[in-house]
Amino acid sequence: MGFPKIRMRRLRRSASMRRLVRETAVSVDDLVYPLFVREGAGLKEPIKSMDGCFHFSPDTIVAEAAEVASLGIPAVLLFGLPARKDPIGSQAWAEDGVVQRAIKAIKKQTPELLVITDVCLCEFTDHGHCGVIKEGTVDNDPTCELLAKMALSHAQAGADIVAPSDMMDGRVRYIRQALEANGFKDVAIMSYAAKYASAFYGPFRDAAESAPAFGDRRSYQMDVANSDQAMAEIALDIEEGADIVMVKPALAYMDIIYRTRQRFDCPIAAYNVSGEYMMVKSSAAAGLSDEEATMMEVLTSLKRAGADILITYFAKDAAKKLQESQ
Ligand code: PBG
Repeated sequence: MGFPKIRMRRLRRSASMRRLVRETAVSVDDLVYPLFVREGAGLKEPIKSMDGCFHFSPDTIVAEAAEVASLGIPAVLLFGLPARKDPIGSQAWAEDGVVQRAIKAIKKQTPELLVITDVCLCEFTDHGHCGVIKEGTVDNDPTCELLAKMALSHAQAGADIVAPSDMMDGRVRYIRQALEANGFKDVAIMSYAAKYASAFYGPFRDAAESAPAFGDRRSYQMDVANSDQAMAEIALDIEEGADIVMVKPALAYMDIIYRTRQRFDCPIAAYNVSGEYMMVKSSAAAGLSDEEATMMEVLTSLKRAGADILITYFAKDAAKKLQESQ
């Protein structure tokens, strides 16, 4: 056996042959597009640190969401920038908060588009940490209570899925309980289960104005060197009531995606984060690589690794590309 009977190149001879034996395909059904909403009216401001991304206000985000839906993308992921920040991030659960208003407006105009909301306090606290501070560090359990309030207020505004990204212990349990107790048993939780303390979030922190004013996030987000611990985090979140688990970042963490796929049966989301996005963008802008080809390679690779859901700032571009190639 072996060569010359077996020639692997036979199955690569033509585009049709390659299509026939292709193992992985990215579909528009897999995509989630992150959107940023800030206080104001009539806004569509380019985000300096993230090419092709914008800050919208609750009125203008409606048209953007409708465009996303018209491309066939099933979901958006909402991030909010409030007008005012305080030590506990109280705008995060305000009934008339910027995210709550955006959810209502989008669901009214485009009810079929799933609205996923980021549940984390870092954009809402004046110190930029993901929870309330006690003795110089984020205090876990009181933070979970606030996160549950925030998630509940998103559900009340009409969110389909809430996505806690804070990395507090037990937050999925707190959120699940708050949803159950208030008649939102069918609101899904997508937990940022294995979220690492990564340098790849740089451009986002600029976009979300959420960089910590002191210290860093290493006492709550995972150490980049750990893999077994990711499995423990994911198991806990599923047990506490997460419906979808996420690995974040994605590209430098494909081993984690792969291990998660081997071990767990629930849907897995991969967050192709801002730094990963801007690496592709910057390289293309410098004339070093083809943006579209690199984008599709990244997304295909994440699916090959085992992700079901791809959260990416490329979602609209990828949807257009997939439409063309049909
Ligand atoms: C909020 C949050 C962050 C991101 C998503 N949710 C930033 C952080 O944890 O510092 C990063 C997203 C990206 O880089 O694209 N906690």
